[in-house]
Amino acid sequence: MFVSIILLWLCIWFIILQLKSWRPKNFPPGPPPLPILGNILHLSLENPLKDFERLRKTYGNVYSLFLGQRPAVVLCGTKAMKEALVNKATDFAGRPQDMFVNDATQRRGVILADYGSSWREHRRFALMTLRNFGLGKNSMEDRIYGELQYIINTLEKSIGKTMSPQNMFHNAASNIICQVLFGRRYEYDDKFIKVIVQCFTGECQASQWLYDSFPMIRNLPLPFTKAFKNIETCQNLAIRLVNEHKKTKVPGEPRDFVDCYLDELDKRVDDGSSFSEKQLIMYALDLHFAGTDTTSNTLLTGFLYLTAYPHIQECCQQEIDKVLEGKHRASFDDRHNMPYMQAVIHEVQRVANTVPLSVFHLTTKDTELMGYSIPKGTLIIPNLTSVLNEEGQWKFPHEFNPENFLNDQGEFVKPEAFMPFSAGTRVCLGEGLARMELFLIMVTLLRKFKFIWPEDAGEPDFTPVYGVTLTPKPYSMKVQLREMQ
Ligand code: HEM
Ligand SMILES: *[C@@H]1O[C@H](CO)[C@@H](O)[C@H](O)[C@H]1NC(C)=O
Repeated sequence: MFVSIILLWLCIWFIILQLKSWRPKNFPPGPPPLPILGNILHLSLENPLKDFERLRKTYGNVYSLFLGQRPAVVLCGTKAMKEALVNKATDFAGRPQDMFVNDATQRRGVILADYGSSWREHRRFALMTLRNFGLGKNSMEDRIYGELQYIINTLEKSIGKTMSPQNMFHNAASNIICQVLFGRRYEYDDKFIKVIVQCFTGECQASQWLYDSFPMIRNLPLPFTKAFKNIETCQNLAIRLVNEHKKTKVPGEPRDFVDCYLDELDKRVDDGSSFSEKQLIMYALDLHFAGTDTTSNTLLTGFLYLTAYPHIQECCQQEIDKVLEGKHRASFDDRHNMPYMQAVIHEVQRVANTVPLSVFHLTTKDTELMGYSIPKGTLIIPNLTSVLNEEGQWKFPHEFNPENFLNDQGEFVKPEAFMPFSAGTRVCLGEGLARMELFLIMVTLLRKFKFIWPEDAGEPDFTPVYGVTLTPKPYSMKVQLREMQ
């Protein structure tokens, strides 16, 4: 009797779960899910890229899969991406709120905030503050040039030798954001910088998928608990910096982002707004996290390709020498006179494919896409890779070639499939800063130095290391000083 009741109960439970996993009516197609597990067995946890490619071939540009019990829709190709993120921007502008990353960041900040007033207020504030004039007398270009000096020093010490640029670019990108946020930089071997970027990388990767798919395992001591610890460490560092700011700041004379936020807080006392000191802490870490790996991995990819394709490097240098002749330094406005350099930087971003699956979105209401129905609250995975190398959108989708961004007259053109920053309402908030960094750093370094692939290093390997952000395999390059024209 007892046994049969248990069996009956198990059967019912099984059927309920089975039903829950079923796709809603007219939902995008995908592989049949298993109860509880969903499609997790269809994917390799270490590197699911091959499996996804297979699913896309079978089910088309808009397909669905189940992460545990949770249905998700993957968007591939420029057409689906534009329809969702641009034409139906608000329908697709949400963020899931019950994933690993939400718990890790305590639901604060802007990257992972759901579509709503707190996200909107904080996004608007950051966009205003990041604009050149938002940050007091020290312009954004000056801040970037300040850090460039340290990059140049590091490279000068390596002249005639081989050096691996990983740490240098990483710390430089981190410092530029730190300058903007906290008005200070860190030495290239400082702990702050090291800790803060370990949070989402390496061993936590595979266990994150598990965390997101199976809520019941969340309290187990798996590697993701380490990520929580790391974030706590970072928070404590940020709290210390914010407290220092509160002691030293002069109202109305902001030195950096934190000062601006504190001023805003004073203005908004008791007006029911979403601004708070706790928000500020996570927000600052958010921006630091979003702006460091992305920028440095793009730079690393850039210099990998420039050393591997010396004739492209030379063409850049010719253009730089011509346009900057007699000038002390480049300014961001010079890009309008440098179509070739612009094309190279964009092509680097295209092949770097730095954030391959963007940041996951969520539908904010019942909506339609490419003829399918997608209910409110569905997880959306934008596959940016599939846009950046889509056949039919690019002259040379599968090779590194600046011609992808040049027309027959040699003018710079930007195809609509160029979306390394994603698109629409949620488009990268740091795009302006990132583009300024990439331009000033690449132009300044190429003007001063020649970068050479070492003869004894074998063939360059362009296969990226898989992760939330893609990065090239560690490599070294030789540095020479150029003759100044
Ligand atoms: C080459 C460098 C960068 C790349 C490729 C990049 C790419 C991206 C992508 C793909 C997204 C997701 C957009 C979406 O959800 O649809 C994003 C969001 C974001 N990025 Fe960047 N990013 C870069 C640099 C930066 C920098 C320097 C900052 C900081 C100032 C930054 C701050 C953010 C923020 C705050 C968001 C979240 C925006 C929101 O949810 O409303 N990013 N970025
Ligand atoms: C995204 O698209 C690329 C290129 O089409 C493919 O290799 C990759 O597996 C896709 N990823 C997902 C999650 O669909």
